[in-house]
Amino acid sequence: MALPYAEVIGDPIAHSKSPKIHGFWLKALGIEADYRATHVTPDALPAYFAARKADPDWRGCNITVPHKIAALDHVEDREDVRTAIGATNTAFRDADGALVGTNTDAAGFAAPLKAFDLAGKPVTVIGAGGAGRAVLYALAGIGVGPVTLFNRNVDKGAALLSSFGLEGQALPIGDAVPPSALVVNATSLGMTGQPVLDLDLSALPGDAVVYDIVYAPLETTLLAAARARGLATIDGLEMLIGQAAVAFERFFGAAPPRERDAELRAILLR
Ligand code: ATR
Repeated sequence: MALPYAEVIGDPIAHSKSPKIHGFWLKALGIEADYRATHVTPDALPAYFAARKADPDWRGCNITVPHKIAALDHVEDREDVRTAIGATNTAFRDADGALVGTNTDAAGFAAPLKAFDLAGKPVTVIGAGGAGRAVLYALAGIGVGPVTLFNRNVDKGAALLSSFGLEGQALPIGDAVPPSALVVNATSLGMTGQPVLDLDLSALPGDAVVYDIVYAPLETTLLAAARARGLATIDGLEMLIGQAAVAFERFFGAAPPRERDAELRAILLR
């Protein structure tokens, strides 16, 4: 048999940081396996899954744009991610050999929030797209209090809140941020080449946390504004590494060495 391997699939795929992350962990743990990026176009997706399912060396894949919804048709949805989040970002072989689709974005997002007590507390989220769904799913699991959801399309925001059974309200981006224990940017606003997300954070209490899922640049305008106010911040590499960590364990059966995150972050920022 050849080396066991996993991979990330998408279209385009060259920009993906997943091979660097998984490659770093495989080397750190001395696991003899490979992790690669594979370009798969939408019309090639069915043939891709058919071929990989028959390959005993293949441990699974991370799934990125534009395949996160279409891939659900090729995996077993044992965790009901279609209903819960509406998208899959990881496919792995279960103990019985079945190919299972999961979504590690929500767990990856939630991991750094374990250090904070957010149960019952008001939170503000910006964004109601794919990333926003994973974020709201995770926040519903944490049991946060009322959620103020800012989205350009307010109706979409309101529909999402009610689909997760979350109390709160949807508002257009630009309205004042209410007092919140946590503010999350779950849009691409602030990413290099996108408009910045310019929020007035003056209503936030001193122990509020500001979390941006954007990691390029690492210090977004939002995080800089939060730091200027002395607030705790969580940057986008936390979620990127966090979602990869959950997937890595599914692929290779070992927990990644998270105590080496500082080294990994330096590699990703190079
Ligand atoms: P992702 O999977 O990254 O979340 P998406 O599903 O396309 O991508 O969702 C993008 C999110 O960013 C949405 O909340 C979108 O707002 P709409 O639902 O109103 O479209 C938001 N977004 C993207 N570009 C934006 C812009 N220029 N101004 C405001 N919101 C924007």
